[in-house]
Amino acid sequence: MNQASTRTNRLPSAQARAPGKIILSGEQFVVLGAPAVAMAINLYSKAKARSNLNKRVQVEVDIPTRFLSKADPYPPNSQEFLRPLRIAVEATLDRIGKRRQGIDVSVDCEIPIAAGLGSSASTTVSIISAVSKSQGVDLSRKEIFKLAFVPERYLHGKPSGVDQATCIYGGSIEFTRPASIKPIRVQTEPILLLCDSGIHHETKTLVGSVVKQSETKRKIFRDYLSQVREISHGVSKALRSGDSEDLGSLMSLNHELLRKIGVSHPKLDRLVNTAKRAGALGAKLTGAGGGGCVVVVCPTARSRERIAKVFRREGGRPYMITKDTDGVESSAPS
Ligand code: PMV
Repeated sequence: MNQASTRTNRLPSAQARAPGKIILSGEQFVVLGAPAVAMAINLYSKAKARSNLNKRVQVEVDIPTRFLSKADPYPPNSQEFLRPLRIAVEATLDRIGKRRQGIDVSVDCEIPIAAGLGSSASTTVSIISAVSKSQGVDLSRKEIFKLAFVPERYLHGKPSGVDQATCIYGGSIEFTRPASIKPIRVQTEPILLLCDSGIHHETKTLVGSVVKQSETKRKIFRDYLSQVREISHGVSKALRSGDSEDLGSLMSLNHELLRKIGVSHPKLDRLVNTAKRAGALGAKLTGAGGGGCVVVVCPTARSRERIAKVFRREGGRPYMITKDTDGVESSAPS
């Protein structure tokens, strides 16, 4: 090893990993104050951070091409795509008092982007965690939660915080704005199947349209919000007691509400109906809507295989997901 590379290897570095998430109830309405129930899943983003000597912040990201779509507004590694990630790095350095520190950050993301699975929150959280750890600072989960609003606001306009909360804490949580995060002790894990419609969305536009509607249709939205409140409390209860039938029917009810406010998509409705016809206990879109994924509650592992096969025939991409229990984790070489 030459002298220069020995020197580079000695520069402080760290890595972090954060899960993606699904929302079992309450997306969109959570921005307006209703509770949402979300679960961290076993798809991850991983960030590596290493100090550099040239005082520049350099960020690059690697996303498998199968997770990208021609409809994505910006290609990965374009300035526009990397902007929120750079914001996450700079906000972290600012917070730990190292504004002038140069740093190289690379991110591997195995979470489909713009598909309702929290890819942006997960990468933001893993970046914040790796960057702070590389500078010898262990931020608390609460501090990471607060910091993640900086890039999330840039990207989504009006984030509720549910995405980053789930990626940070892991497991299943009931979340209410601004920062109530209640872990749910799950009796028996439901058998869940995820299916990506392949249509990608922009959260900011969808949330904006819902917020606008809520201002002009106040009475209807009051009613929707109280229904979502009951649905989310029911979903938490069904998870706690291991009642997958209740869980499924509440999630299907929630899908109907999301359809009513115009954030579903014909392909998502088709996948939801296909799943139910194939024996699912319930199904709904997950995340902002307008495309992205549906999440399905299956009665048995066998039926999950069967429904996945049907999805593949319909042109969807199924994922057999399980829960992530750890949330964000970071480490630095000793
Ligand atoms: O960006 P997505 O698709 O993972 O959705 C985030 C969930 C929303 O409720 C739509 C927005 C929010 O900040 O809560």
